[in-house]
Amino acid sequence: MGDNEEIALDLGLDRAHGARIYDYILGGKDYYDLDRAAGEESLRAWPALRVRMRANREFMHRAARFLAAERGIRQFLDIGTGIPTRPNLHEVVQAIAPETRIVYADNDPIVLAHARALMSSTQQGRTTYINADMREPESILAAPQLRETLDLDEPVGLLLIAMLHFIEDDQEALRVVRQVIDALPSGSYFATTIATDDFDPEPLAKVRDLYHAHGETLEWRTKAQAQEFFTGLELEEPGLVQMHKWRPDSSNEGIADSDIAMYAAVARIP
Ligand SMILES: C[S@@+](CC[C@H](N)C(=O)[O-])C[C@H]1O[C@@H](n2cnc3c(N)ncnc32)[C@H](O)[C@@H]1O
Repeated sequence: MGDNEEIALDLGLDRAHGARIYDYILGGKDYYDLDRAAGEESLRAWPALRVRMRANREFMHRAARFLAAERGIRQFLDIGTGIPTRPNLHEVVQAIAPETRIVYADNDPIVLAHARALMSSTQQGRTTYINADMREPESILAAPQLRETLDLDEPVGLLLIAMLHFIEDDQEALRVVRQVIDALPSGSYFATTIATDDFDPEPLAKVRDLYHAHGETLEWRTKAQAQEFFTGLELEEPGLVQMHKWRPDSSNEGIADSDIAMYAAVARIP
């Protein structure tokens, strides 16, 4: 990828970054001192953060399996992919249908540096990675990697998992989601998790302040604000719920509602 040389000069190491804080809290190894400091401070402010992040990842697995196994989706666009964490999306869906094609997109150069781990496709399927900013959806939709990998005349599973809270302005977040949805054919699906402070506002206000103090954007949304992302879409059962309550399995047992600061839903694009 031609971008690599330029990006190697700016890994954004002068501040913490959401992808790397997330990697630290999930027990990964791709973070720097500033990310660890931000992660530790956030965990002190809200110890449930680790439970919440794991539950987020497990929702992604359940939603992806549902789309592949029960809705027959064979192409996915995952924006805000994050640092590779096994099982990655392609490992989940290609285990069900090896011919599945996946486009990953993220704007963190550290994720780009690890993108090879996202390329371990089955022979029958395909994966690719786009280094792009979600706030400019056209740069993702027009990318040759996307056009070569996905057939936009066939349904696509769009995943925006644990990333909309980095776009603080509601209208901007709604605009970018709508722009991607509008580019997908009828019968596509949208799956997302949306961060909220509806259940435990006090520590979450501290977490937001800490992210801001470390130079990272972060905003919580109410259920009504989260619901707006689904205007005009057909929500799958059980609708927009705390993510551990979305078609739960044994991985969700014993999770306290107050520990889960994320709504989740899967919706069909009519
Ligand atoms: C908390 S991680 C979530 C990773 C993965 N989706 C998951 O749920 O396990 C959020 C990811 O969104 C990415 N991200 C944040 N803002 C973005 C933007 N404007 N464009 C593209 N990616 C973005 C971050 O770099 C990070 O990798």
